[in-house]
Amino acid sequence: MIAWLDRRSVPLLAGLLAGLLAVAAGLIAGGDAAERAGLAARWTARAALPLFLVAFLAAPLVRRWPGGVTRALLRRRRQWGLGFALAHTIHLAALAINVIVYAPGRTWQSLIGGGLAYAMIFLMALTSTDGWQRRLGRWWSRLHTVGIYYIWFIFTASYAGRAFGDDPDKRFVGIMFGTVLIAALMLRVWPRRAQADRLAGQATGGAATRPAKS
Ligand code: HEM
Repeated sequence: MIAWLDRRSVPLLAGLLAGLLAVAAGLIAGGDAAERAGLAARWTARAALPLFLVAFLAAPLVRRWPGGVTRALLRRRRQWGLGFALAHTIHLAALAINVIVYAPGRTWQSLIGGGLAYAMIFLMALTSTDGWQRRLGRWWSRLHTVGIYYIWFIFTASYAGRAFGDDPDKRFVGIMFGTVLIAALMLRVWPRRAQADRLAGQATGGAATRPAKS
């Protein structure tokens, strides 16, 4: 299990598979073309969320629960971030069809907010190499820290919007995933314990205490 999780290609394959399965499920479940496009857009975002959470939580998880699985996740955090970027690129394709062909009534605020999140996702993916980390220096960790919290914010705002909506199904989804996202933030920002930091540092040769790569 741990050796499998440690393979570099696993997060990217997981991202590709999650995105494509979500599109396939939307195409099968939808009654007509517009509903199929809507479900594909909705479910691709949902499919990308677990991959985002792995990248977002890899360091706090190993600090709190040091073990083989959490260490393997942290060692491959960069790949989990790239897997999320891949899955969310599939959301971009699905929502482009949805917005352009079927539902032109998106607010400009959501287009700007979501568009900026995509700019962040692609910038973080492009600069996720060691070479870019060296070249950007301090700006690298600033970009990746601001980026990961901004993506968290867009996910949370999207689900918060659903949590307070009129549709009971969407409300349930909004409350459930909104709660998961708030819990994830609390886990990430909860005060660090010195001993746990030391354990995480031992697990990764110091990578846990370096800025998040996603
Ligand atoms: C300009 C960029 C974006 C546009 C136009 C857009 C559009 C859409 C559309 C059309 C849906 C389906 C709505 C429905 O049928 O209820 C959707 C769902 C969603 N999107 Fe996006 N999106 C964008 C970017 C993003 C980004 C960057 C994120 C996260 C970081 C995100 C997170 C979500 C979430 C959480 C859902 C709901 C999924 C669910 O119901 O479980 N979107 N988006």
